[in-house]
Amino acid sequence: MIFGGVPCERLAEEFGTPLWVIDEERIRSNYRRLKHALTANYREVRIYYAAKANTSLSVLGILRQEGACLDVASPCEVSAGLKVGYRPEQMSFTCPNVRNDELKFLLEKGVMINVDSLSEMERLLKLGVPEIISVRVNPGVGAGCHAYDVLGGEGSRFGLHKEDTLGAYEMAKRSGVGSFGIHMHIGSGILQIKPFIDAGENLMSVAREVHERVGINFAQIDFGGGIGIPYRPEERGVNLREFSDGVLGLFKRRIAGYDLGSPTFCMEPGRSIVGDAALLLTRVNTIKTASKNFLGVDAGFNTLVRPALYGAYHHIITTTKESDEEAHDVCEETYDVVGPLCEGSDFLAKDRKLPKAKEGDLLAVLDVGAYGYAMSSSYISRPRAPEVLVRGGKYELIREREEPNDLLNHQKIASWLE
Ligand code: LLP
Repeated sequence: MIFGGVPCERLAEEFGTPLWVIDEERIRSNYRRLKHALTANYREVRIYYAAKANTSLSVLGILRQEGACLDVASPCEVSAGLKVGYRPEQMSFTCPNVRNDELKFLLEKGVMINVDSLSEMERLLKLGVPEIISVRVNPGVGAGCHAYDVLGGEGSRFGLHKEDTLGAYEMAKRSGVGSFGIHMHIGSGILQIKPFIDAGENLMSVAREVHERVGINFAQIDFGGGIGIPYRPEERGVNLREFSDGVLGLFKRRIAGYDLGSPTFCMEPGRSIVGDAALLLTRVNTIKTASKNFLGVDAGFNTLVRPALYGAYHHIITTTKESDEEAHDVCEETYDVVGPLCEGSDFLAKDRKLPKAKEGDLLAVLDVGAYGYAMSSSYISRPRAPEVLVRGGKYELIREREEPNDLLNHQKIASWLE
């Protein structure tokens, strides 16, 4: 199997497994397609790439070259953004339950905050008056590919309800803030357009009330991230042209009808930019048949946690069989693909049909560019796997494999145990 012009087997031999492989061209083309679809309907568009999906400096750098802005969710993500050359005004910060020292850091750096509660607005304004401020609204609609990925609607803890939103903007205006945004993010992994339209409709009507009752104009209106990608072979991705026609059609009607001027239309996609741009290479080390067939590989939920945490499906390809001329004739088996951790949740796939495997086979787990490495851990003292960037046949290590000392060096044995 060739990925980004490079044979997977060569990468696995050179860098070992498990190994994350990221395709630069795919990231660029995903970004360009979205940008193109949105700007076909509206001139002032700003795409904040949601860094949390994949925070590798090279990925941030690729998107900076493409002209993206950055949505960050921690001070370290701000530092990562600055390190690769994003200016503070090209970043927006969206995160619930932010500490005062973090708010102070953001004020000092000059990064715009999407405020997530009245408490946070009060604390922020005591620390300083930012040039621009934005409020995350709960538009009463949520959607996502798993219950944990639904981040808006009834019972959601994210964003402010209408009355609190009005109060938050009043507070900010009174304190002398001069420029405003408004924001929502309803969830992640959404393959339909309707939730964005329904939520967008509500967001725009909150924007209208704020505009009329508090008397402020919006410099930007942010519809958040959440565009899904197809993980299963039978799933279809979002048609970006239709998405843009629907969402920006609504946006343009409402800014005209509600007299909101011409604010910048913003989105903050993560998964749809990087999700299908990476694969995880893992090698089969054990084949065991008990009540079921188990394919034991060297990546567990310490490496890719999405199957364990969300029951997520990731397509798996046997790279060696795929290049085999007889690929289509090989007989299949049904396997649980399981990792090296001693827990029932340690699986990459359940009851998966794969070509009959043998020890040493190299598997590629697909569509792991979003929330793959970013959510990996060093559970059971297994150092995290490295990342390689590929581009049209070239490749380079962009994150080294962690060493045992990376895990041990930050600890000390309590003095009374010596
Ligand atoms: N903006 C905000 C405020 C967010 O919280 C998120 C993701 C995004 C943008 C980007 O959303 P995206 O376009 O990637 O859907 N770990 C989960 C996904 C959690 C998403 C959290 N928020 C998963 O692996 O499915």
